[in-house]
Amino acid sequence: MTKRIKVLTARRQWIHAWLGRALWLLAGGLLTLLLFAISIWLWAPALLTHRTPWPFERQLGRIMIDRAAARGTAQLTPPTLSHSKTRDAGRIVYLGACSQCHGADADGKGWLGPLSYPPASALNDADTQKRSDAELYWIIANGLSFTGMPGFRDRLSDEQIWAVIAYLRSFNSSAGSPLPALPTPTAQELAHADPRGHGASRGAALYLALGCINCHGAGGNAPGRLQLRATDQRAVRTIREGSKEGMPAYSTDILSESDLHALLEYIATFRTSRS
Ligand code: HEC
Ligand code: HEC
Repeated sequence: MTKRIKVLTARRQWIHAWLGRALWLLAGGLLTLLLFAISIWLWAPALLTHRTPWPFERQLGRIMIDRAAARGTAQLTPPTLSHSKTRDAGRIVYLGACSQCHGADADGKGWLGPLSYPPASALNDADTQKRSDAELYWIIANGLSFTGMPGFRDRLSDEQIWAVIAYLRSFNSSAGSPLPALPTPTAQELAHADPRGHGASRGAALYLALGCINCHGAGGNAPGRLQLRATDQRAVRTIREGSKEGMPAYSTDILSESDLHALLEYIATFRTSRS
């Protein structure tokens, strides 16, 4: 009899000891949760509104991009990208598809870039040059779904994507002669634009708003094939229909007839001969 009672009390003591510990654990857990909730509450505004990623987020982003890019690059055989023609063509594609986020000179300063989270980064730096052509192809074709980086598989041909990569490679310090720089619009050129004005000044505003300026320069003064002159003959047709060379088509739902006329009036103020 006494033996049995002894066993029971021993067991009870054991249970009590563990119950005590469990309660402490539970209390500790609840307290941690409470502190966590309070700190989230206090930090939430900063977490949700901060626009510049903190260093650990940059690091995490890098790791995720690396992992994403390393996937599916095995079967890709990049073509040779060194042609200066390819670079030129690549810049045009880049200006049409990428510059609004990554900046015309790939410095990460496109007007749309800071609006996404994480913000679009510079592509003219060592981080991008370190990537293989195949990795860059993969990122551009598929996008990075955890960021604002869209995939271009459906919008750009393979040839265009490789050309963009050739353009990005031209920022490598060992890439030889750099491309002629795109002109930065002067305050005077911009002051000409007035969306509520008439003729050429309304045309100038449209020229900015529709992104013509990104490729052709504010006064049509972009280098090489991108230069626009007052005398360019194929103007209307090229604007409406675009061209294989990278000129986008502006149909009547983007650009009405009267807007087209205002645009042409503005273009008529450009130089008449090649500079
Ligand atoms: C993504 C770059 C890009 C944008 C944006 C762009 N263009 Fe072009 N544009 C080109 C390229 C490249 C050509 C040369 C096409 C060719 O050689 O066939 C061209 C050609 C032209 C031409 C024909 C010149 C000629 O006589 O051959 C005109 C006019 C023109 N663009 C006007 C415009 C206007 C107006 C806008 C804005 C509504 C605009 N472009 C937007 C790239 C662009
Ligand atoms: C709507 C904005 C947007 C457009 C348009 C866009 N990107 Fe991005 N891109 C981003 C964002 C956001 C990221 C992720 C943050 C970063 O830059 O690392 C990114 C990332 C990248 C990266 C990976 C950078 C790295 O960290 O190594 C490459 C390469 C890239 N973009 C190339 C391009 C090219 C080429 C185009 C045009 C064909 C393009 N992007 C168009 C927003 C954009």
